[in-house]
Amino acid sequence: MSNYFEKLFSEFKIKNVLLRNRIVFLPHYTALATMDGTPSEKEIYYYTERAKGGVGLIISGNYAVSKSGQMHRTFINASDQKVIPVFSKITKRVHNYGSKIFGQITHAGPTKMEKPQSDLWSPSQIIEGSSGTHTMKIDEEEINEVKHAFEKSSKNLIESGFDGVEVKIAHDGILRAFLSPHYNKREDKYGGSFENRARLSVEVLKLIRKSIGFEYPIGIRLCMDEFEDDGYKLEDAIRFAKYLEQNQLIDYINVDAGTTWLSYIMQIPPMSIPLGYSEYMSASLKRHISLPVIAFGRINDPVQAEMILQNESADLIGMARQLICDPETPKKAKKGDVDGIRKCIACMDGCVGQCIQFQPIRCIQNPAVGKEKFFGINKLKKTSNRKRIVVVGGGVAGLKFSEIAAKRGHEIVLYEKNNFLGGQLNLLKKIPFRNEFSEILRYLEFQLVKYKNIEINLGFEVKKENILAVNPDVIIIATGSQRYIPQEFQALNTYSSIEVLSGEWNEGKNIIIYDKLAKNEGLGVAEYITEYYDNAKITFITPANNAGEDINFLNLDILYRKLFESNFKCIPYHEILKVKDEKLIFVNKYSRREFIINKYDSFIYIGDIISVDNLFWELKGNAKELYRIGDAKAPRLVELAINDADNLARSI
Ligand SMILES: Cc1cc2nc3c(=O)[nH]c(=O)nc-3n(C[C@H](O)[C@H](O)[C@H](O)COP(=O)(O)O)c2cc1C
Ligand code: SF4
Repeated sequence: MSNYFEKLFSEFKIKNVLLRNRIVFLPHYTALATMDGTPSEKEIYYYTERAKGGVGLIISGNYAVSKSGQMHRTFINASDQKVIPVFSKITKRVHNYGSKIFGQITHAGPTKMEKPQSDLWSPSQIIEGSSGTHTMKIDEEEINEVKHAFEKSSKNLIESGFDGVEVKIAHDGILRAFLSPHYNKREDKYGGSFENRARLSVEVLKLIRKSIGFEYPIGIRLCMDEFEDDGYKLEDAIRFAKYLEQNQLIDYINVDAGTTWLSYIMQIPPMSIPLGYSEYMSASLKRHISLPVIAFGRINDPVQAEMILQNESADLIGMARQLICDPETPKKAKKGDVDGIRKCIACMDGCVGQCIQFQPIRCIQNPAVGKEKFFGINKLKKTSNRKRIVVVGGGVAGLKFSEIAAKRGHEIVLYEKNNFLGGQLNLLKKIPFRNEFSEILRYLEFQLVKYKNIEINLGFEVKKENILAVNPDVIIIATGSQRYIPQEFQALNTYSSIEVLSGEWNEGKNIIIYDKLAKNEGLGVAEYITEYYDNAKITFITPANNAGEDINFLNLDILYRKLFESNFKCIPYHEILKVKDEKLIFVNKYSRREFIINKYDSFIYIGDIISVDNLFWELKGNAKELYRIGDAKAPRLVELAINDADNLARSI
């Protein structure tokens, strides 16, 4: 028993499976498997890491039940017996560290990620909304194939040592498609009435029960609301859940919402969706059934988790991204080290942003993700050669380096020219859809104060002579970057994003934003302006095909909703040519036709960024060991600054 978070760290039983606490690692695709759909060694370490971190239950997968049911070739095909050896290693190692493990199985049905999409198995022929591809209406023979694939896969899971089986009737997959009035327009016994639409799920659950017996728990992941106009709603999901409970077909329900990818913001919510947005769904379900209910969605904190349990809104707490970001969340919470938990900020960039490109899962804050074998828990080695290291710059790269190097036992002296740490994170966090980037700074600052071997000097601009006088063993240049506006694009009221976010500008009403990069910065500034400047009218001009073209759609969708509801218009395909007599001259990059803007109040130029690296070049050849990291090396994403710093700090 923990003295902290009484309910969260109380035991719980799902059927006969005893869990050491109420925290559940929610199922998710990792893209860590091989191209032929078999699990890789990386997965063994991935799940073992979360078990080491103290989670009660892991639900791994989702695993496809057949080849036709794979969303992409890297989805593991659980009906193939060749998965059993690696699966058995996963379950054994997870058990060794005290967690239990269920496997989630599904048939992808009408939603595939592979392009061009192969056959999309579906209850009816429709245009699948997220891919715009026509689906294939399956016949009874294919329905039987699906049922037996579920049966075979669940047998393989049990043979591999899994403690239970979870059937996905969630945000994607054929079973929800049959349940959904949006997808299911059939007129046979599998379509029409509620009972008919539920029939395939019921038949699958019955077959699984028959094949694995009553000893093992069978649960479902259930989409509680499709959040689509003609989709099913919360009351329909509750009706379905009650029906399954009354017929004793399942042992728990893992709550989920939204669909892939039409209403995915309810499924894998980005930062703009508030923490705990979905508590009402598990709470409503719990009022109607007595089976165990798992809550989900933006739960990243043990205080929040304990409240959900105390409110009786759920029996168990599901976390996917929080345990990707910090696998040791349960252990830390159990000993009351709440501030030491690195919280997931729902940025969508590393984990899901990578997986939708079929790239191995990552986390922008946790460089060990997918590489647990080498960088996971307890892999950081103390140094046997303690060095005196000067770090110049207290932005994200300098802070991360200092954290890891100090943990290894080096002696760190950090200099920051401002009177505060964090560098550009302090501005980034002002952008509403990126505001939780402040957590990265909070976490790193908290780490630094814990270590006595770090000295922090604020308000100190380091010169070459100062450093050489100290004669450190190692010098790290983490001096960041600065915005640069070429002379030919400077007009009277021209500003960079930094000036706008620092409030050092005269905005006026008529604002032109030119965005050469089409990444987060340009649209971030636009969102900041729409949030805080009521009368602003933004004309957003970019050479890209659309505003923020390089932002993944998981963030872009919700950002567009906000921008296009305000006074925002986008002119794509245009480059800035020059500024002449205070007129802005743009050119269509295909036709080379020019247009001129001669009336505007302010012009924001988003484009060139340059490394602040003069100290590096001055010291080159004069220092014992000299490195540059983060933006001082090349201006890039926060994730890459963290990676640079982490890699270097492990190697010194
Ligand atoms: C990369 C990624 C892949 C996911 N894949 C699945 C999946 O295959 N099956 C599933 O039921 N949920 C999947 N999810 C959804 C999560 O289980 C979870 O419901 C969602 O991320 C919200 O919870 P969180 O805020 O704790 O991350 C996925 C989530 C992520 C981040
Ligand atoms: S990449 Fe972002 S959303 Fe994903 S786990 Fe890490 S912090 Fe969370």
